[in-house]
Amino acid sequence: MRIAVFSTKTYDQEYFEKYNKEYNYSFSFYETALNPNTAKLAADCDAVCVFVNDIVDDNTIKILSKNGIQLIALRCAGYNNVDLDAAKKKNIKVVRVPAYSPEAVAEHALALILTLNRKTHKAYNRVREGNFSLKNLMGFNLNNKTIGVIGTGKIGETFCKIMKGFGCKLIAYDIAENENLVALDVEYMSLEKVLEQSDILSLHCPLNKHTKHIVNKASIASMKDGVMIINTSRGALIKTEDAIEGLKNKKIGYLGIDVYEQEENLFFEDHSEVIIEDDMLLRLLSFPNVLITSHQAYFTKEAMDQITTITLENIKSFVNKLELKNEVI
Ligand code: NAI
Repeated sequence: MRIAVFSTKTYDQEYFEKYNKEYNYSFSFYETALNPNTAKLAADCDAVCVFVNDIVDDNTIKILSKNGIQLIALRCAGYNNVDLDAAKKKNIKVVRVPAYSPEAVAEHALALILTLNRKTHKAYNRVREGNFSLKNLMGFNLNNKTIGVIGTGKIGETFCKIMKGFGCKLIAYDIAENENLVALDVEYMSLEKVLEQSDILSLHCPLNKHTKHIVNKASIASMKDGVMIINTSRGALIKTEDAIEGLKNKKIGYLGIDVYEQEENLFFEDHSEVIIEDDMLLRLLSFPNVLITSHQAYFTKEAMDQITTITLENIKSFVNKLELKNEVI
């Protein structure tokens, strides 16, 4: 089995090489993302392995199909970047890693909350420069605050359990209630009520046509003044220009994002020596109450172990013509 692995960094290669000893597949690692211009790189392969920002659209899939690709193995949970209908038409199977470490992402959401609230990133720099003033470092207790969670699947559930430990009140909106959370007194309510009542709103639903721009001008207007919004899910859940407006008029008190609508041209790469042309991102970076991380919520040792081994197992099931239990249909 020959697999073209796109959007790879050295750590991806290290993990694949470590676990491939048991499988003996032949990998071609590419740093570049998969898109219609790079799809031909997979010409000698049977499968492609892709990540969150590869563009697996109709055009890409047509080229992959022409070159004999039979399998698209996503090494992530979200699959909003894959045109599933196009893959189906070309009889290309799509598999993913539905769960690798919900703790990794949920704990990162907490890291964003605590950093924004207690301003440890600012305190770190201040103290290093001999500035021991507490001016503008005041935070608030998480205890007794209302946390609204949109999407209570694996990551949302883990996040709710963590926040319970802080003595928070948990309210949630999902198209399907999670019984484990109902048993833990997480209160399900309409999306409108969650938006209205949350001191902190954390997004853990997938990106699809129903959830795109779920945080927009109107929904922001309905939120509490000074709300904290956390997004570790997918960038386009938030309409960035509306969030900027909300920050400017101080409706949004804090914004913590690990994902960004236009992240594919920036995230995972070092742009420190070039001129960043994304004015919206630069505007976001100018706010003192905005914290941005570069899609790193998943990035723990435990998650990388799981991502790699589950991807290899997905490929093995395909090779052995077994049931594809992680197939995306
Ligand atoms: P999951 O499939 O276990 O849970 C998603 C939940 O969202 C489900 O309960 C589902 O019913 C709910 N949902 C679906 N449509 C909805 C809607 N219209 N409104 C409200 N809720 C809706 O997925 P999991 O593993 O919890 O992951 C959630 C998302 O986190 C993924 O889709 C992915 O986009 C993102 N993610 C981000 C990572 C990062 O590194 N920043 C890493 C892994 C996942």
